[in-house]
Amino acid sequence: MTAKTKGEQKNSKIEEKSFISISDAIKQGSRKVAIRGWVYRERGSNKLKFIVLRDSSNIIQCVLEKNKFEKQWDEIDKIKIESSLEIFGEIKKDERAPTGYEISADKINIIQIAEEFPIQKDLNEELLGDRRHLWLRSRKMTAILKIRSTVFGAIHEYFRDKKFYEYQSPIFQSVQAEGGSTLFKVNYFGKKEVFLAQTWQLYAEPAIFSLEKIYTIAPSFRAEESKTSRHLTEYWHAEMEVAWANFKDIQNYGEKLLKYIVKKVLEKNKEELEILGRDIKKLEPTIKKSFPRMTYDEALKILKEKANIKIPWGKDLRTIEEDELSKIYDTPIIVTNYPKEVKAFYMKETDGNSKVVNGCDFIAPDGYGEIIGGSEREADPEKIKKRLIEMGEKPEQYAFYLDTRIYGSVPHGGFGMGVERVIAWICGLDTIKDAIAFPRTMTRWKP
Ligand code: 4AD
Ligand code: MG
Repeated sequence: MTAKTKGEQKNSKIEEKSFISISDAIKQGSRKVAIRGWVYRERGSNKLKFIVLRDSSNIIQCVLEKNKFEKQWDEIDKIKIESSLEIFGEIKKDERAPTGYEISADKINIIQIAEEFPIQKDLNEELLGDRRHLWLRSRKMTAILKIRSTVFGAIHEYFRDKKFYEYQSPIFQSVQAEGGSTLFKVNYFGKKEVFLAQTWQLYAEPAIFSLEKIYTIAPSFRAEESKTSRHLTEYWHAEMEVAWANFKDIQNYGEKLLKYIVKKVLEKNKEELEILGRDIKKLEPTIKKSFPRMTYDEALKILKEKANIKIPWGKDLRTIEEDELSKIYDTPIIVTNYPKEVKAFYMKETDGNSKVVNGCDFIAPDGYGEIIGGSEREADPEKIKKRLIEMGEKPEQYAFYLDTRIYGSVPHGGFGMGVERVIAWICGLDTIKDAIAFPRTMTRWKP
């Protein structure tokens, strides 16, 4: 590019200031506008070039007439998909254009002519995965990433509004909380027992004695060997822990949080949901109705009566059973009081029935599976030790955790929400992998 004279520099500054987003240009309706972005589609003849330009806000069709661009025409002719451009011109209504408006261009700055874009229609999932860094520009991914941003914002708003403190746990941890089979061991200077966090929980409980109500949004890691549409090895985990809370309180917090998130997405992201083809009528009941709550025993009965599925008492609900159950309702449901054996060691025994625990799973509608797992925490350190030993763990290693039950123990509880699972459900995605920019699974860790 040739060096600009002072005068030109000044001019381009003035122009830069007047750039507006495509959606703002469309709102203006008719006037001279300056926009910039990337070529979404293009086609041309020897007299006209149609460019659909894309920026983060929307797309718009621009028309370039050869007779206005005689000197630049050869270059304009070379513009391909994803080239970066600045376009100046007059916007007006045009029913035939993709977003109902069109810009008749009278000036164009070509910032870069892109090489042949390596994503065309109908690429298989593997190739799209390899080119993920480029696929992020698709309208689908752009819409999902915007909704993701709303979801993260809503989680912070919800908890901060309820006077929770944001608190962080370590990612390198020396104990397990959610079962040894999904622990990622790390080589920590040759030390044996160092793992990536599956949850913040064991390091969050000590902090409620300081802050009482805390939450976080942080990555969690699970060495999931399953190649399902709902498992990532690295996912974002929104977790909360509250002192003086009982089992009902925990369920209420979870229900209100999900309602708040869905409400915010419906307020802010109608356009994105439309791009994704998500029927918002499927989300509305979540805001309006209270979530059905049932015990594990009741869930078994419902599965038997309504879906003819018989599960022997004591077995965990599997994906297919959760899916069958979720089909019966149009909001998330809360299943409580699972058998002790299928749940984590820290969950409190239910009063009057030592076979089950005060743990709950929130199961999303439409077969999106478990989106929240939570519980009231066991207060008795001896019971916790016993269960750790049953699991083959060494209670000494949990001494720091057991101290929470020795120095001023209080009733408390909390939950964890899989943020990508919530996004996949809200967006109606086929796979959780699209709920995050660079998904990590057993078979995908690049780019
Ligand atoms: O049910 P989980 O294992 O519960 C815990 O980790 C508790 N310590 C949370 C707490 O009480 N603070 O995980 C919580 C949620 C699940 O309900 C699910 O939504 C999500 O985390 N999750 C996953 N999301 C994506 N990929 C995976 N592999 C996931 N594993 C769990
Ligand atoms: Mg769980």
